[in-house]
Amino acid sequence: MGSVKDSSEIPAAPVIRPRRLRGTPAMRRLVGETSLHARQLVLPAFIADGIDEPRPIASMPGVVQHTEDSLRREAAAAVKAGLGGIMLFGVPREEDKDAAGSCGARDDGILNRALSAVRAEVGDDLVVMADTCLDEFTDHGHCGVLRAGPHGETVVDNDRTLAAYDELAVAQAAAGAHVVSPSGMMDGQIASIRAALDAEGHQDVSILAYSAKYASAFYGPFREAVGSSLQGDRRTYQQDPANLRESLREVRLDLDEGADMVMVKPAMSYLDILRQTAEISDVPVAAYQVSGEYAMISAAAEKGWIDHDPAVMESLLSIRRAGADIVLTYWALLAARRLAEGWGGR
Ligand code: PBG
Repeated sequence: MGSVKDSSEIPAAPVIRPRRLRGTPAMRRLVGETSLHARQLVLPAFIADGIDEPRPIASMPGVVQHTEDSLRREAAAAVKAGLGGIMLFGVPREEDKDAAGSCGARDDGILNRALSAVRAEVGDDLVVMADTCLDEFTDHGHCGVLRAGPHGETVVDNDRTLAAYDELAVAQAAAGAHVVSPSGMMDGQIASIRAALDAEGHQDVSILAYSAKYASAFYGPFREAVGSSLQGDRRTYQQDPANLRESLREVRLDLDEGADMVMVKPAMSYLDILRQTAEISDVPVAAYQVSGEYAMISAAAEKGWIDHDPAVMESLLSIRRAGADIVLTYWALLAARRLAEGWGGR
């Protein structure tokens, strides 16, 4: 019995060595499977009525409610950075809100004014998108109009809401939106809006459908961003975070109804939904990295607990890897800047 080592204790030299492909930055660049480009990023932006200076949003450090001037500058910066698009949300004055959200469809409503201004600024050099929903404009904060249900309860009236969305979408198209983006999760909203746009001669305006939109706690900071009046929740129209199959049904319906692009929202907690959506979709797939996702990384970085820019870039790459062709992110300009500086993340 010697002290000769049993050869089984020495690990056999591996023949297959995946690490060979990770040895240098150039090798990692060569074999990277997923890419991120400024053109794939869309910047969500808020415009508020009745303010003279951009107003910071406390829960989204670095994001503001814009004035018309500052929004135009932001849009110009987006063009310069090579972004794919800008998605506009309007924040009306409290006194302009009503139960029907009627200021959304008015030509002189804040969102429609902003769409005209941004379109005048960027022309066709940037895709101008509009959030097509009532929640910013209603005094109750719901995404649709309300009625009393059979038992005295308040319900969001799907079909009357569709008529309101049609008017919104037509007004947004007339104001200069290249893309309208119904985000209210009403049944039939894509078919309804398509027909309304076509009837008014807006055949060339595209629809980005928020197809799989979840009732998510990660929208928290957005509610501050748009001064939401919502009491309660949106669980009778937005989806249950427990469900995947239901999302695929929603996506298929929107495709059948004529959606030009489909979206999953939020992004990071729903990468499985995104992957499966990408597998069944024959149109471009977008994902929305929402306000709460922005707030989480921002807050952790502020505390020194996470390295901000690498975390942002990794989060965007993960959303692309899961299947998004297009990513809506409040970091679009930052990410474009990092990419222009040669960010490989690898
Ligand atoms: C509804 C809408 C919401 C967001 C985009 N469109 C809020 C909601 O459904 O409550 C959330 C965006 C974000 O959190 O960044 N018009």
